[in-house]
Amino acid sequence: MFELTHHKVHDENRQGGVFAPLVSTHPFSTGEASVQKIFYIESYGCAMNFADSEVVASILQDKGFGVTQNLQEADLILLNTCSIREKAEVTVRKRLTEFRRLKKEKPGLLVGVLGCMAERLKAKFIDEENLVDLVVGPDAYRTLPGLIEEAETGQKGVNVLLSREETYGDIAPIRLNSNGVTAFVSIMRGCNNMCSFCVVPFTRGRERSRDADSIIKECKDLFVNGYREVTLLGQNVDSYYYLSPALSIDEDGAVTFANLLERVAKISPLLRVRFSTSHPKDITDDVLFTMKKYDNICKYIHLPVQSGSSRVLQLMNRTYTREWYINKVNRIREVLPGCGLSTDVITGFCSETEEDHQGTLSLMEYCEYDLAYMYYYSERPGTLAERRYEDDVPEVIKKRRLQEVIAIHRIQSLVSMQKEVGKTARVLIEGNSKKSEEYWAGRSDNNKVVVFPKADNKLYKGSYADVLITECTAGTLIGNLIK
Ligand code: SAM
Ligand code: SF4
Ligand code: F3S
Repeated sequence: MFELTHHKVHDENRQGGVFAPLVSTHPFSTGEASVQKIFYIESYGCAMNFADSEVVASILQDKGFGVTQNLQEADLILLNTCSIREKAEVTVRKRLTEFRRLKKEKPGLLVGVLGCMAERLKAKFIDEENLVDLVVGPDAYRTLPGLIEEAETGQKGVNVLLSREETYGDIAPIRLNSNGVTAFVSIMRGCNNMCSFCVVPFTRGRERSRDADSIIKECKDLFVNGYREVTLLGQNVDSYYYLSPALSIDEDGAVTFANLLERVAKISPLLRVRFSTSHPKDITDDVLFTMKKYDNICKYIHLPVQSGSSRVLQLMNRTYTREWYINKVNRIREVLPGCGLSTDVITGFCSETEEDHQGTLSLMEYCEYDLAYMYYYSERPGTLAERRYEDDVPEVIKKRRLQEVIAIHRIQSLVSMQKEVGKTARVLIEGNSKKSEEYWAGRSDNNKVVVFPKADNKLYKGSYADVLITECTAGTLIGNLIK
């Protein structure tokens, strides 16, 4: 559900864009008189990694570092990495090899690996590759300034300790590459779900929820600074649960995801609220009715299914069946008619048969997703699937099945765009259209990109416009402002 138009998407394995592996380089200046060191950061992986890079920027800025988007200017290069599929790791390794040349040209240049790949490979990274000076896991960013000092003395700086408490709740992220209108807000970290194909529980550790008050404060600050949309982020947002240490459950101190959504929605009717990702087993009626109650909570749910076969879902340890998932989709459509729906699908998981695959295709037909992020299975070391099951579907079959899933989705997403023609969309303007400065671009409530001519000069980035949709392409709705 993250519209990543501002970032260069960079993952061959990926066919969509929610937890879209992305690469971004960040222009930023601290404005401080005495900047000690200049760092350059590239982020790969999901929106949470991107949000983490903003936390890292804040931690470094506090110590007087400045950011550049020009690699040549940097004294410190940081790669915030992803391990979700093998290709994501291959891309980072290639990038590190490119930096080897830079290190030769510029003695003293430090290179650091952050994020999930740092966590997965730990100090092995340093021993094996001798390409990096720093290896810092997702829960250890507060120690980054000290580790950089260590690395400056020629030692390797490594900290990959995972934490049960760290949420960086008190750190105000520095908004990097921001359009000034939309922002990600992390509400939790880690994941307890142990889907058998997934490396995230190992790279990000146990699930923990961030202090609700700090989330509300961050959202309010964003609103005051002109932002008009927040996306609440977590691997499994519906299991958000925060109990203030000062209160007990009896004192009604517990905050669920539905409560949190409501509190964020109440900040202002002009602040749009989105969230991702919902695990089908955890999204509740409470959440659906809270969405219904507030016009500013966008009617769009990312509900990854992974497979349409109950047998495969069980092997994946997703804890729901095909029927259960379909009932959930029916419930969403009953409570929230017209709600946008997107998903993630994996083809060719261990032992997947042609019949299982047909189950995925028929489920896609049934659900008519607006958007889908589709991958073929990539075995990850250390996961339950790697230990328990054989990765026995040949790559050509995995890829052929992926193409079949993509083919269905292409048709469905075009139909879902065509259905909008003739309707009015409320659009939050995010900036100029990429193709023409004569057009505004933004997104509808149900997360579709809308462009329209700038007929009315009273509109601005961050304002809302009612647009009559007159035509569409596969990815964009085109319309005219309603006077
Ligand atoms: N927490 C979310 C969920 O439960 O769906 C997102 C997890 S992950 C960051 C994003 C997507 O990557 C997953 O939904 C899954 O489709 C895909 N993925 C994860 N592990 C994979 C693997 N080993 N091979 C291929 N795709 C994978
Ligand atoms: Fe991975 Fe499953 Fe957790 Fe999503 S819910 S991050 S797929 S283990
Ligand atoms: Fe995200 Fe990749 Fe880590 S998808 S949680 S950066 S493994």
